[in-house]
Amino acid sequence: MVSSSSSGYGLLFCLLILLLVPFRSHSADPDPLQDFCLANLNATSSVNGFPCKPVSAVTSEDFFFNGLSVEGNTSNVFDAAVTSANVFSFPGLNTQGMSMNRVDFATGGLNAPHSHPRSSEIGVVIKGKLLVGFVTTDNVFHSKVLTVGQMFVIPRGLVHFQRNVGKGKALAFTAFNSHFPGAVVLPTALFASTPPLPNEVLTKAFQVEDQVVNSIRSKFGA
Ligand SMILES: *[C@@H]1O[C@H](CO)[C@@H](O)[C@H](O)[C@H]1NC(C)=O
Ligand SMILES: *[C@@H]1O[C@H](CO)[C@@H](O)[C@H](O)[C@H]1NC(C)=O
Repeated sequence: MVSSSSSGYGLLFCLLILLLVPFRSHSADPDPLQDFCLANLNATSSVNGFPCKPVSAVTSEDFFFNGLSVEGNTSNVFDAAVTSANVFSFPGLNTQGMSMNRVDFATGGLNAPHSHPRSSEIGVVIKGKLLVGFVTTDNVFHSKVLTVGQMFVIPRGLVHFQRNVGKGKALAFTAFNSHFPGAVVLPTALFASTPPLPNEVLTKAFQVEDQVVNSIRSKFGA
């Protein structure tokens, strides 16, 4: 038998957990401490983010960005191009906890498997047809083919990709709850790092011979 007072404590405990959950997961970047903080990318000292440009030097132009209006150059091994509106290209995003990418795909293009260590991702297909997929930490693969106007969410930090499975070009816009989500692109992180990962790490990890590792490296000019 559970006494009424211990079930009362149980209820209180559940309420406390429910109250705490939103605060634990409400955002990836810390909240801003002022209206804005235009990143001074030249500052010699660095904190967890960028110091602010003096307010007197801020102009309206600082809050606008034209970079995502331009189609990316997809002439590369993946036939896809990611253009980023993050704090580096758009310093007005500093401390605002958000950023966006434009992803252009030539026919058959692939935004190669990658993860964003500091952010979840939400995306919308603007043109074409994309296969979007991610893998959980339990190695469960979730995927779907999306058409224009349809959306996806990639939980923070999980390995994911988008592949153009339509007939022509494709285009997607993605958004992040970080001003600098970062990207670990698996093929280049593992096979085109500086200095290179030791061959014995890669041959053992993928259960292949040296020649396979060298062949993959050569595709990335490494
Ligand atoms: C940073 O340095 C560049 C080149 O010296 C300059 O054009 C730019 O105005 C500087 N930006 C800031 C915020 O001081
Ligand atoms: C696109 O990139 C390729 C490879 O780097 C380059 O040869 C080509 O000139 C670029 N095209 C444009 C329009 O910039």
